[in-house]
Parts: sequence; C-alpha cells; structure tokens
Amino acid sequence: MRILGIESSCDETAVAVVEDGRLVLANCITSSLSQHQAYGGVVPEIAAREHCKVIIPLVQQALSRAKIDWNEVDAVAYTRGPGLVSSLLIGAVTARTLAHVFQKPLIPVDHIAGHIYSNWLYEGDDPVAPEPQFPILILTVSGGHNELVYMKSHHDFEVMGETLDDAAGEAFDKVSRILGLGFPGGPIISKLAKNGNPQAFHFSRALMNKDHERNLNFSFSGLKTAVLYTVKDLAEISEAQKADVAASFQEAVCDSLVTKLFWALEQYPDVQEIHLAGGVSANQRLREMLQLRLAEKSPTLQLRIPLHMSYCTDNAAMIAGAGYYCREKVERLGTNF
Ligand code: KG4
Ligand code: ZN
Repeated sequence: MRILGIESSCDETAVAVVEDGRLVLANCITSSLSQHQAYGGVVPEIAAREHCKVIIPLVQQALSRAKIDWNEVDAVAYTRGPGLVSSLLIGAVTARTLAHVFQKPLIPVDHIAGHIYSNWLYEGDDPVAPEPQFPILILTVSGGHNELVYMKSHHDFEVMGETLDDAAGEAFDKVSRILGLGFPGGPIISKLAKNGNPQAFHFSRALMNKDHERNLNFSFSGLKTAVLYTVKDLAEISEAQKADVAASFQEAVCDSLVTKLFWALEQYPDVQEIHLAGGVSANQRLREMLQLRLAEKSPTLQLRIPLHMSYCTDNAAMIAGAGYYCREKVERLGTNF
C-alpha cells in the first residue's frame, strides 16, 4: 500500500511517498528557514505563504521521484497538528482537496506520532531492519515537544513524562540566540560544543534532585535563564568561553534526557526497544551518552535512532508511515483515539 504524506506544521513543506509504512519511495522537502533567520524564530505568516507557493510542485516532485502516478497512490495522510495553525491549514486543505479529486481515503496524523514512526522508515539502498518489537520506550524531542512515551502497540501511546515549559530543542534555539548565534540553534550549538569543555560551567538539572527522584517530567527554562546570567556575568565573552558554555549547556540537557529515560525504563522492565526521535535526536552527544549508558546498564536492549538525519527533523515520510499504521483505526473510530 502506497501512502502520499504531507507535512506542513512549521517552516518545512514536505511531501513523501511511503510503501507499507516503511519503505520510503520519495521524501521531498523544502524550507522557508532562510526567510525567518533575521527574526530569530519562525514567523507564521511567512511560513504559510511559502507553503502555498511550493506545496503543489512538491506533490508533483514526490510522485515523479517515486515513479508513480495517482492511480498507484492508495491514500493521502497529512499532519493534523500540533503546529502553527496557518501552516497546518495549507497542508490540510491540500490533502483534503487531493483526496477528494482523486477519490482516495484521507488519514489525519498527529505530528508527534509521526516523529515516533520515523524509526520504522528505510530507503531502497538501506539494509532492511526487522520490524520494531513492542513494548517500546521512546524519547521524542523537538523544538515544539519533549516527551517520554511507552508504546504498547501501534498508535497506543502512554505519555510518561513531558516538558513543563520549554522543549529541549527550543532551549538549544534560545541559548544560540543568547550567544548571538543563528537559528535553528541545535546544529550550531552542537558544532560549537565540540571545541568546548562540558565541565567548564555547572548548570543544575531541573526536577532531578532528591525531592524529584523518579519524576519523569522535564523543565529547561531555568537552564536557559542560568545560561543567560552566566553570559551576562562574563561581559566580554571570548570564542573559547562561548564553546564552553555551549558544551556545558548541551551536557546538562543530554544528562536530563538520558537520566529520565532510564528512570522510565525502571518502571517498565518489559520494554523491548528504546527509540530516539525528533529534531534533537540528531544531536551526537545525546546519541553517544545514551549508547554509553545503555552499554553499561542494559547492553542487550535494542536502540533505534532514525536511519537518516532527514528523518530526525520534520519530514513527510514519517507522516505517511504513521498514517499506514493508523488507517484502519481512522476508518473504525474516526480521529478520536
Ligand atoms: O522535529 P523538528 O524538526 O521540529 C519540531 O517538531 O519542533 O525539531 C527542530 C528542533 C529545533 O529546535 C532544532 O534546534 C533542534 O530540533 N535540533 C537539534 C539538532 N538538530 C536540530 N538540537 C540539538 N542538536 C542538533 N544536532
Ligand atoms: Zn517535529
């Protein structure tokens, strides 16, 4: 079964074709990022206007890359939310119109569920990994969300913990701005952190002291403020100090994420696999820290990270993949599940 997926929740416009929920036949994407950089964040009006311009050409590009026409598409999936309302609307209206014109079933998909299904995806040249085994513990971390999820079966999610304020990706973006660097902050901070000392500054980890032991929620706004005051105190900050701040901040974020993932694992010892998903799963230090602690504590547990960097950040293949696994539920229950 081939599903055409559409993702337009933020600044990326993306269209993909995925076969049977896993094999990516085409994964097309364009972004209005460069137009937002001067503002230090995404401007919804600019993002929505760009979606309007590029979405139909991108649908045509995806079909042509997948070497299929509309007769060979079995359903249309799109991101129903969460995201920027004006951006979501463009994707939803496009998907509805295409489904109506070509008489295809329409599958609305939750964006975070999409990120979760990024670990099912592979391309023609990749070795085929076996299907993930349930139950799965997922740490899904982006600019807009930050959750620990226990997944019992397809589209059966229990949120064990989430951020009480900023998501980790948002904290990376804000720290980049504090240091006078660009947007999005994640890739910039992680590159800079390679030259820094992660022990140079000690930033405390929120909700991790004795009073909060085993608390699976996250909080990163205090950390962002601590970075702000550290930078203010330094007054004339050198390049080396910027790298130290970046490395120490990144270490604090990764430590919070990984520590809480292991606390969650203690509550669910039946977990078969650990998955990392979302934009922040592109972070090398997070991957390395998780791999090291797994080798130490649960060496037999399977760890999955999206096979390609393009599956970590927003993309439409994850929406088509998640759509495949919930299509019957949508038919049976509508979208209220
Ligand atoms: O999943 P995503 O593309 O969009 C949302 O759903 O939010 O995630 C974007 C977020 C941004 O905040 C960006 O700074 C962060 O992911 N990010 C990273 C890295 N690459 C992207 N954060 C840390 N390290 C990275 N290498
Ligand atoms: Zn996302």
